[in-house]
Amino acid sequence: MSDDVMYASVVPCSRRDAPLRHEPVPRPVPGPDEVLVRVAAASLDRVDTYIRHGTHGMAATEPQILGRDMAGVVSAVGAGVREFRVGDEVIALGRQTHAQYALAPGLHTMPKPPQWSFAEAAALPTAGRTAYDAVVNIARVRPGERVLVVAAGGAVGSFALQFGAHLRAEVYATAGTEDKCATARAHGAHAAVNHYSPDMVEQVLAASGGAKMDVIVDPVGGALYESLLRLLARNGRIVTCGVTAGARASLHLGRLMTQGWHIHGIGRPDRHEVAAHLRGCLDLMLAAGAKPIVDRVFPLSEAPDAHRYLEESSFFGRVVLTPEPARPPR
Ligand SMILES: NC(=O)c1ccc[n+]([C@@H]2O[C@H](COP(=O)([O-])OP(=O)(O)OC[C@H]3O[C@@H](n4cnc5c(N)ncnc54)[C@H](OP(=O)(O)O)[C@@H]3O)[C@@H](O)[C@H]2O)c1
Repeated sequence: MSDDVMYASVVPCSRRDAPLRHEPVPRPVPGPDEVLVRVAAASLDRVDTYIRHGTHGMAATEPQILGRDMAGVVSAVGAGVREFRVGDEVIALGRQTHAQYALAPGLHTMPKPPQWSFAEAAALPTAGRTAYDAVVNIARVRPGERVLVVAAGGAVGSFALQFGAHLRAEVYATAGTEDKCATARAHGAHAAVNHYSPDMVEQVLAASGGAKMDVIVDPVGGALYESLLRLLARNGRIVTCGVTAGARASLHLGRLMTQGWHIHGIGRPDRHEVAAHLRGCLDLMLAAGAKPIVDRVFPLSEAPDAHRYLEESSFFGRVVLTPEPARPPR
């Protein structure tokens, strides 16, 4: 293969759910403010499945390479990038990262902590920065507060759980299986309950001695939202940072008025805010002595299996692709 060609996992646009193709494509060239990274690991994101299926208002209108998060080694830098050199090990929030090489803005590139594997580092950007923004900037979680992290086994939830525990909040978690609930407890949740259980609300209240939650971090939305509001304390804050289960929910305005709830959406940060979130979440993980939770690593050529695995939803944390043979996270 020549130097200007690489392999990538490409989603075709011919029809919804068409199979991914592992094929040679042109290797990208960095613009003035970009770095080209030889990808060692790239995480698979829920959004990648939305694009493939054409749901949540997303669809591939032309063949495209998926992926935003990556970790790897800088292979070339644009003329305007001063912070990084060829050979640096980095974490980056880029584009089209399910490939052997990918681009990222220098602004969204950070040194990889040496104690993290490439897979762990690739797990951080999108989910870590979103959870950081929700927990730290928007909810402003304080020590001793009761924080409910919904879908703690998901990528965003797994970071929110770790951030809440590090900030010395009393963290409650929900997840879809008993195994995931046990993993959430092992990562610092005071209690964890199954969010598909019909008495989920009662189970959380039993675990908290009847006390409601000061903060709820919700990446799920949909039908679950009304149950979450039953758990929200007076003057409590709820942050919607995803709508995995649906974008519509019902809100009793009288209860909103009398309870004094603060209802937040995560919003669409600009690129400088994204850069601040990335640095903030990395610093917080390092201060906590924590690492991103990698569930499983698949070779890039097995991306279709990785997508199936993500959609089966038995994972906890992040599913990661690597152009090299799969290795367990160290
Ligand atoms: N706004 C932003 O910047 C931003 C950034 C990142 C993510 N997001 C959004 O946030 C959401 C979560 O992202 P993610 O990366 O954490 O996804 P993920 O890793 O795929 O996790 C999704 C989680 O949702 C849970 N889930 C799915 N359906 C559910 C339901 N009906 N009821 C309760 N739980 C359900 C799953 O848990 P179980 O299978 O165990 O139930 C799984 O743990 C996505 O919608 C994503 O698009 C937004």
